[in-house]
Amino acid sequence: MNNKLKILGFAGSLRKESLNKKLLYAAREICPDDAELEIFDIKDIPLFNADVEAEGDPQSVKDFKNKLRQADAVLIATPEYNHSIPGVLKNALDWASRPPEKVLNKKPVAMMGTSDGMTGATRSQQHMIQVLAAMNAYTLSKPEVIVPNGDKKFDEAGNLTDDKTKSKIITLLTELINWTQKLR
Ligand SMILES: Cc1cc2nc3c(=O)[nH]c(=O)nc-3n(C[C@H](O)[C@H](O)[C@H](O)COP(=O)(O)O)c2cc1C
Repeated sequence: MNNKLKILGFAGSLRKESLNKKLLYAAREICPDDAELEIFDIKDIPLFNADVEAEGDPQSVKDFKNKLRQADAVLIATPEYNHSIPGVLKNALDWASRPPEKVLNKKPVAMMGTSDGMTGATRSQQHMIQVLAAMNAYTLSKPEVIVPNGDKKFDEAGNLTDDKTKSKIITLLTELINWTQKLR
């Protein structure tokens, strides 16, 4: 039997060459042995509309909520847009927050982020902590993994080449795993 902790990862950017998606792929590669990271793409999740919800969650929303329900912990990789959370990510979290089952309630969550600029994703992470608190997720506020100049940290095949960033991701995953085990 597979006793590894299940971590669900998703990115707050939809584009194929997203630096934040690449950060998640790197995290999947270097994930410590006691956990496994599965990546979900939120690209098919429609804009939240209570009329659509009243007719039943769209399949992409059902899939996302199922994955979150089954996950022991969550890892979000996101840039910041205009000093805050990208709309696509906030929208996905809004769907996930809806009753009857609040799938992020008491769920351990960690965050990381990168951008091609100097400040990385600092402000979106601060706003994420606030939004996730509304859903009663148990979000780690440290260590902060903010990767500036992300466009210089991957090779042409999309592999993370920066050892310092790798080591930060391993520390973050280790903290998330410890936090999840403590909460069990
Ligand atoms: C609408 C929009 C707003 C942005 N606002 C910010 C910002 O406030 N701060 C910042 O550091 N970068 C900002 N950026 C740059 C993104 O962080 C950068 O493009 C990042 O690489 C996007 O993430 P991705 O590579 O995962 O797609 C913005 C980009 C877009 C498209």
